[in-house]
Amino acid sequence: MIFFNVFVLAQVTFSLGKPISRSPTRSTERDVDGWQALSDGNKNFRAEINPELLKNLTKEGQRPEFMFLGCSDSRVSEGTIFNALPGMMFAERNIANQYNENDRNTKAVMSYAVEGLGVRHIIVMGHQGCGGVKAAIASPPPQPWDTADFAVQEWILPLRKLYAASDSRPEIVKYRNEYPGCVNVPKPDLHHPVLRAMVEENVKQTVSKIASSQLIEEVSKRKSRRYSNSTKTAVFIHGLVYDLENGTITNLDVSVGPPGMRIPPVPFPHREAPTQAFTFQSYGP
Ligand SMILES: *[C@@H]1O[C@H](CO)[C@@H](O)[C@H](O)[C@H]1NC(C)=O
Ligand SMILES: *[C@@H]1O[C@H](CO)[C@@H](O)[C@H](O)[C@H]1NC(C)=O
Ligand SMILES: *[C@@H]1O[C@H](CO)[C@@H](O)[C@H](O)[C@H]1NC(C)=O
Ligand SMILES: [Zn+2]
Repeated sequence: MIFFNVFVLAQVTFSLGKPISRSPTRSTERDVDGWQALSDGNKNFRAEINPELLKNLTKEGQRPEFMFLGCSDSRVSEGTIFNALPGMMFAERNIANQYNENDRNTKAVMSYAVEGLGVRHIIVMGHQGCGGVKAAIASPPPQPWDTADFAVQEWILPLRKLYAASDSRPEIVKYRNEYPGCVNVPKPDLHHPVLRAMVEENVKQTVSKIASSQLIEEVSKRKSRRYSNSTKTAVFIHGLVYDLENGTITNLDVSVGPPGMRIPPVPFPHREAPTQAFTFQSYGP
């Protein structure tokens, strides 16, 4: 039963990322190579890391300045793409970097990041070529769904709604009009404008959902009472997009912070063409 589920889940995962070989021989070879790479990687890490940093972090605990909310995609690991050291980022990754009020996992991660660890910046990062976003644009797989289909389809439902409702991006409207009724919609390829637009709109939606979440509202109220409204204790939420092909990170310019507070500069280049005007700069009442 367990093996069956793992196999089925793997099949669905294929459609979200690069397909991998299902031949037993290949898969065994791959596992061995993979493990060796991990083992070598850990050796390299230990050789290069400053041992004093690890000791300090162990003794003093973590005090990360950032929380990272990105996609589970193996190509967008925050430690790798930011060259980040241990202690820099408290992280949550899920398919297509989403935040939903009913997702207890992401909510708990964010709560502890903000209240327990005092992170100052929540970085929401989408990426080009996101399989979760592609899958949400395309028609759902034919029924009946197995457990794995159901889990993935349920998770990407908010993205389908975003795709169906988004009127601000001509790229999305155009694709919707090409496939009326969302019937037989193919997965857009990497460079298709609809994919790029949806990846960006999804980041904006996540930033907006976090900014209007109960947690941020409460934190904002409490912090402004407890510590005055200094930028040192404020929480800012930012939207970035990572490009898979060359590793470039761009700033979508959708940062938000508490009312009346200047948003600290985000040192990543802006997207070349300005995105649709964003309607809020501050969260809270
Ligand atoms: C470790 O902590 C000590 C004492 O706070 C500090 O002087 C030192 O710079 C820290 N080292 C690293 C690598 O963080
Ligand atoms: C990275 O690739 C994307 C498209 O694939 C392109 O738009 C962007 O300009 C590239 N950035 C750099 C720094 O090469
Ligand atoms: C704190 O809020 C007050 C009133 O909203 C504002 O005048 C002041 O500039 C704020 N302080 C900071 C550090 O943003
Ligand atoms: Zn993704």
